[in-house]
Amino acid sequence: MNLQVQPKVIIHGGAGSSLHGKGGLESVRRSLYPVVEAVYSLLLSGAAASEAVLLGCQMLEDDPRFNAGTGSVLQSDGQIRMSASFMDGTSGRFSGVINISRVKNPIELVHFLQSSPDRVLSDYGAAELARELQVPLFNALTDLRLKEWMQERQDNFKSTMAGVVAEPELVESSNAGRGTIGVVVLDSFGGLAVGTSTGGKGFERIGRVSDSAMPAGNYATSHAAVSCTGIGEDIIDECLAAKIVVRVTDGMFLKDAMQRSFTEASKNQRDLGAIALDASGAISWGKTSEVLLAAYHDGTSIGDTLEWNNGDLVGCA
Ligand code: GLY
Repeated sequence: MNLQVQPKVIIHGGAGSSLHGKGGLESVRRSLYPVVEAVYSLLLSGAAASEAVLLGCQMLEDDPRFNAGTGSVLQSDGQIRMSASFMDGTSGRFSGVINISRVKNPIELVHFLQSSPDRVLSDYGAAELARELQVPLFNALTDLRLKEWMQERQDNFKSTMAGVVAEPELVESSNAGRGTIGVVVLDSFGGLAVGTSTGGKGFERIGRVSDSAMPAGNYATSHAAVSCTGIGEDIIDECLAAKIVVRVTDGMFLKDAMQRSFTEASKNQRDLGAIALDASGAISWGKTSEVLLAAYHDGTSIGDTLEWNNGDLVGCA
């Protein structure tokens, strides 16, 4: 196939406090790389950005290690409620579901909503849509997440959030973190798209709304696309994804837009991370948290940010 543009992809599986040693990092790497490879191959075959984002998000939601879809964290009442959103930079359309339960892949509903006149649905409406589409009922609960919640219940919910990834060591130590998944792609026609999906912070109040289903956490235009991870309230306060994308759309280079936005977030003592692509193919990421679990394909090879800890707020590939 004669590609017009070199496709690019960057994905994340959350951000937070450091994982437990090299074993943790290596297993996250083993989870992220096959997703990058699958999404990149699909893009090379000429797939549209939206199709590639859907595939990447489905794969990450299906991996019980990450806090989205299967393996989502439990909220304070012991229930799983998931949120996800999708934005196509070419059509400029945002769609989302907020606090949906008992489906395997929230991103599939969000993808469907791209062509609906009502594009963001919350709990009851999202469940009604799943029923109309005959989406099978699915229990996203894993033993590790249940154990994590039971331990928190014993400790009277002292932690303010659950582990960034599901690791037995995290359950034992109740180490706080922040999980979400996200996929950003540039397709071979120059189209950008982004998807983000989460189980939330974990142990939160019923009805709490995540940034992952808002333009603060997931945003794209034809110039740039960004997916965020970290503490939702911090991401919303910075309006991070939309802020970075609008800066690039107004003419700033992606690296400069990331640098300015992360400098502001750091000054405001936010705990968050983001991955980004622009229409020229520039790849960037940033974090104020300890680790960012991201991996990318730059058109030549795969790389990741798992051990990226040089003190900078922003990196580029
Ligand atoms: N960033 C995911 C959440 O806080 O819900």
